Amino acid sequence: MQTRITKLLEIEYPVIQGGMAWVANAALAANVSKVGGIGFIGAANAPAEWVRSEIRRAKEITDKPIGVNVMLLSEHVDEVAQVVAEEGVKAVTTGAGNPAKYMKQWKEAGIRVIPVVASVAMARMMERAGADAIVAEGMESGGHIGEQTTMSLLPQVVDAVSVPVIGAGGIGDGRGMAAALMLGAEAVQLGTRFIVAKESTVSQAYKDRVIGAKDIDSVVTGRSTGHPVRSLRNTMTRQYLEMEKNNVSFEELEHLTLGALRKAVVDGDVAMGTVMAGQIAGMIKKEQTCAEIIQEIVQEAKETIKKCSIFAEDSCGNEAEHA
Ligand SMILES: Cc1cc2nc3c(=O)[nH]c(=O)nc-3n(C[C@H](O)[C@H](O)[C@H](O)COP(=O)(O)O)c2cc1C
Repeated sequence: MQTRITKLLEIEYPVIQGGMAWVANAALAANVSKVGGIGFIGAANAPAEWVRSEIRRAKEITDKPIGVNVMLLSEHVDEVAQVVAEEGVKAVTTGAGNPAKYMKQWKEAGIRVIPVVASVAMARMMERAGADAIVAEGMESGGHIGEQTTMSLLPQVVDAVSVPVIGAGGIGDGRGMAAALMLGAEAVQLGTRFIVAKESTVSQAYKDRVIGAKDIDSVVTGRSTGHPVRSLRNTMTRQYLEMEKNNVSFEELEHLTLGALRKAVVDGDVAMGTVMAGQIAGMIKKEQTCAEIIQEIVQEAKETIKKCSIFAEDSCGNEAEHA
């Protein structure tokens, strides 16, 4: 399964564990990389020294390529950008903004820069700014989302740019991976499925919510603020949505969710915490090791693609018969 992405990132399988605030630490990212994918440490709002120590911890677990997801709105972003360049990771994905300011610094450090986008316009802008690849993320995904679905966004981004594209959002198994490859992606990025990896250190209560979720159990809060977030329905989301309906102030909404992801991930408070997860949670039914997850996805994607090639042969045969 060699693509431009496996070559660019020097990995065995085109499977990426997306950066996830609080969730994607060294333990998760390194164990994904160790088994042939690539894991991204989620820097989110963390201080630069935390990012440095996680990169070093990851390098103790594996000598395979490691990535960092840099949140451009973080108050520590300048220092995090510097740390990432100093520590020499293979790739950086960026969310929430334009990484142009750091492009030269990262490129000089030999880092591949891969912005996450939710629109064709943003993908084009990122390519012009020097991106090595693009993650096109649909609104099925967990966490902060855009408005387009993966099914429609992905092929449009593929058509719009010449750098390789990674599909993300709503991909949870090999069928999803095969579909993304059909749409022109050269790798897939998964978040929700890796939350329940055995090596993931999130609270058991969080994992249990993901494993127990049904297809319709995620909701989007924050549409009124312009910062929509997908998470699993709970007491907090019900209160939040009610407050949005009643047009309460931005500050009150912020107050309700301040530190709420940490509350769910670290403290296991899945009633008042934010249990970020994507629509695909409904399909995720067990904890597995990163190795099992990656092997299963890749194997199933290959079988799915093989099945589809039978359809292609059929139609060729028919055409030959008709001719
Ligand atoms: C708990 C959680 C936290 C996330 N945090 C971030 C983040 O800090 N930065 C980012 O770019 N994407 C973040 N994402 C998005 C993931 O990197 C990934 O693109 C997404 O989860 C893919 O869709 P899926 O959840 O349907 O697999 C987060 C997703 C989840 C579920």
